[in-house]
Parts: sequence; C-alpha cells; structure tokens
Amino acid sequence: MIGASFRRGVARSTFEGPIVKLTRSVLAALLLATAAGPAKAQETWTFPAGFLWGAATAAHQVEGGLTNDWTAFEATPGAIAHGDTSAVAVDHYRRYDEDFALAAGMGHNAHRMSIEWARVEPRRGEWDESAIKHYHAVFASLKRHGLKPMVTLHHFTNPVWVAEQGGWCSDKTVEDFARFAAMMGREFGADVDMWITVNEPNVYAFQGHDAGYWPPQRKDREEALRVIAQLVKGHAAAYRALHRTDRVDADGDGRAAMVGVAQHIAIFDAFAFWSPLDHGAAIVNDRIFNRAFLAGATTGELRMAVPGLRGVRGFEPAAVSAMDFIGVNYYTRWRTRGMSDRVLTPGAPTTAIGWEIYPEGLYRALQLANDYTRLPDGRRIPLVVTENGMDDRDGTRRSAYLVRHLQQVARAIADGMDVRGYLHWTLMDNFEWAEGYGPRFGLYHVDRRPGADLRRIPTETVPVFKAITAANGLTPELLKRYGE
Ligand code: FCB
Repeated sequence: MIGASFRRGVARSTFEGPIVKLTRSVLAALLLATAAGPAKAQETWTFPAGFLWGAATAAHQVEGGLTNDWTAFEATPGAIAHGDTSAVAVDHYRRYDEDFALAAGMGHNAHRMSIEWARVEPRRGEWDESAIKHYHAVFASLKRHGLKPMVTLHHFTNPVWVAEQGGWCSDKTVEDFARFAAMMGREFGADVDMWITVNEPNVYAFQGHDAGYWPPQRKDREEALRVIAQLVKGHAAAYRALHRTDRVDADGDGRAAMVGVAQHIAIFDAFAFWSPLDHGAAIVNDRIFNRAFLAGATTGELRMAVPGLRGVRGFEPAAVSAMDFIGVNYYTRWRTRGMSDRVLTPGAPTTAIGWEIYPEGLYRALQLANDYTRLPDGRRIPLVVTENGMDDRDGTRRSAYLVRHLQQVARAIADGMDVRGYLHWTLMDNFEWAEGYGPRFGLYHVDRRPGADLRRIPTETVPVFKAITAANGLTPELLKRYGE
C-alpha cells in the first residue's frame, strides 16, 4: 500500500508479505506511539518575528505553454480527468505580476514557485535565453511585491530529453539535475536565497514508478524504492551545486543560499487499534514513504526494507548533512487496514477530493520532520510548512481549515520546534495533475467558463489570511469563529 495512490479516497494495492512476524516485534512500540493529545490551550497565538507567510505554486500547474514529459502524458486518452490538459493552465506565465499583487494583497511576504527545467534547458546543455529572461522578470516582480522567493527546481515534471534517457532511473539524470541546479544558482543567486531541490520525492516515485498513475507510468515497487535513492543523490548533488554557485546574499540575512526539500508527510494510523497487522502497515508506510528520503538526505544512509521486496541499502557520502531546512507538505491522514488497504477514518470530515481533514496531523508531521533536524555536522536546521491546503469546491470550509492547521503550527512552535514559515497550497485554482481542473485548492478561484478569461475571484479565505498576516498570528476573533 505504500505505493497506492494517496490521491484517491480509497486505494488498494498488492503489498502482501511476511508481515505477522514484523508486526509482533513492533507491536509494543506501536502501542506507545499512539496519537498525540489535542492542542493545548494557548495564551498567545502570535508567530515569531519574520515568520514567512505565503502561498505555494508549481510551474506546470499554473504557467501554461509547456512542453515536458507531462504534456506528452496529457495527450494520452484517459490520462487526465475530463480530458483536461495543462496547455493554458491559468496563464500565470503571462499574468504573474497580477497574481503576485493578489498574494501581496493578503499580506504575504513569501512565495513558493518552481522554475520549469524543460523551459530553461529544452535540450541537454542548451539554455533558453528567453526563459531565463522570463524568470528574471518574475523575480523582479516578486521583489516589487515584497515576496521572498522560495524556488523549487523539480516539481514532478521532467524535460522530454530527461524522460528519454530513462528519467530518474538513470544516473545521467542525477548529473544533469546537478548541472541545472548549478546554472540556476549562478543565474538567479542574486534574487533567490531559499531553494527547494525536489518536491515530494516520495510522491513522485510512487505515483510514477509504482502506482503507474503518472509519467513514466511504471508499476514496479522495487523501482520506486530505487528512484527514491536516486532522488536522494540528485538532491545531494544539487545541494552542493547550489552552494557552489549561489554566492549572493539576496535578502541581507548573512546567508547566500538555504537549500532544502519539500517532503510530503502523510500520517499513517492503524485502522483497528487492536490489529497488529494494521499497526505494522502503518509503520512500514511511515518508514518508507515519510522517512526514507529525509533520513537519506540528512545522514547519507539509504535504507528501504520492505517485507517481500528487494529493498535498497547503501550510503551516499554527498548526502551527509545536505540540508539547510526541511519543507513539510502536509494534507491528510490515512488509516492502514491489513497490508494492502489505505482507507479513511470512519466518520471523519473530508475535503472534496476525499482526503480526511485532520489538523493535528500537521503537528505530528512537523514532529516527524523534526527528528531529522539535527545533522551529523552538528547543525540544527529549521522547518518550514511548504504546502498545506484543501480542495474546497464552494469555498466555504477553507478558512476553518487554515486557522485550525495554523493552531497546530503554533503548538509545534510553542513546543520548541523551529518552524519558520507557512506556505499555503495554493494561490489560485490550477491544473491538479491527473485530476485536471476539478479540484479547487486556490485562495483565489479561477473562473474557467468560456468568456470569463480565467478571472481570479477571491474566496472567503482571502480576508481571513489578510487578518492573519496583519496580526502575524491568530486573533481571538479568528479563533472564536474558525478555531477548535
Ligand atoms: C501536492 C503537490 C502539489 C499539489 C498538492 C495538492 O502533493 O506537491 O503539486 O498537487 O499536492
């Protein structure tokens, strides 16, 4: 089930193995590891000075006009819901300036975006001047709007030539990605201090190489584990490359580059509290899906052992302490039932896309990531929430979602975790991968009806976010109205 699509309400896969032995040995630990209690009463809900408030986006989902491995995939009948494609997306490639004005209008001081590798390097070793010029203009606009850029270099998509050379199964891709990162550091180092090498390496590996839902549509779980290891190598190489080439401190805080990852963390809890099998499945999922990449990219240890599969074991010296902050993307919790089912908590509230709404999971996700913040080189690195949000099709439930998840961030900070920012997914509705334009994750709704010209329409959460940034925290009014 580690490979089952976390994007479907209920997923099934074929992961069966000699689980009973494993679960017996871990049962004692499991019983202790039950969920943390409810959020403590807080006297103050003010966030630390300089806390980063913003929204997160990804090039493929918003820009439009791209050619990469996803655009090829989108042309396959049945690949994307309703036959949608990213061709126009939300035309952010042309409207970025207006879009950043919307973010600034909510009092945001940061913005997460991605540079599209396929645009900048459409053919191996050929850099597209007009694309580079475009991103310079994007960074100038962010600066004008007072938005500190946080820039992702790989958000699920690959240039076609990368896919053709074997994608992330190929060592060449690791080298090419490092060269791309070096180039980006050199080119944009004066504008950017915060870099994210790879978005959700775990989701990328399992959706594309195990579940077969996304490019390259492979269904080979062992390969998915190897891809995670390759992504650790790619991350480490890009980490070193960015530190070599980004020598300019853009925001004057004394550091030229902070390089991290955005890791998707899902909470896995046993479906039946009395079932050793369910607990064992939760542990295996947690180790492989949530922890393997983080462990690899901080200690260099690559260890993925899954009962019944050829796992991965190795050591990547370049990955030792290759992290300056950990980005946490948190959305939901899954219940593990047997070794193969991933199901919803019975009776739990869900978002329109069918994900459980479980705010406390954000606290637990931060706690999990916090386990990786002490590095072998002695440094202690901070955390950032790099994605969190909900598919809310009528726009009436997002404000409570936002406030309740922020309560959990505040709780994490109060408990000593060094959380530096919260980037909401997302600024405006966009191309939600294989689900197309159906889901609505945006703080701004985008009107896709003919003649509406992709107009951005504020949801009820826009003034709420503005009140949060104005107070740098949660006011008593917000808590009374939306909190828990
Ligand atoms: C995350 C992805 C992001 C978006 C949200 C809803 O897994 O990083 O691109 O699709 O889910």
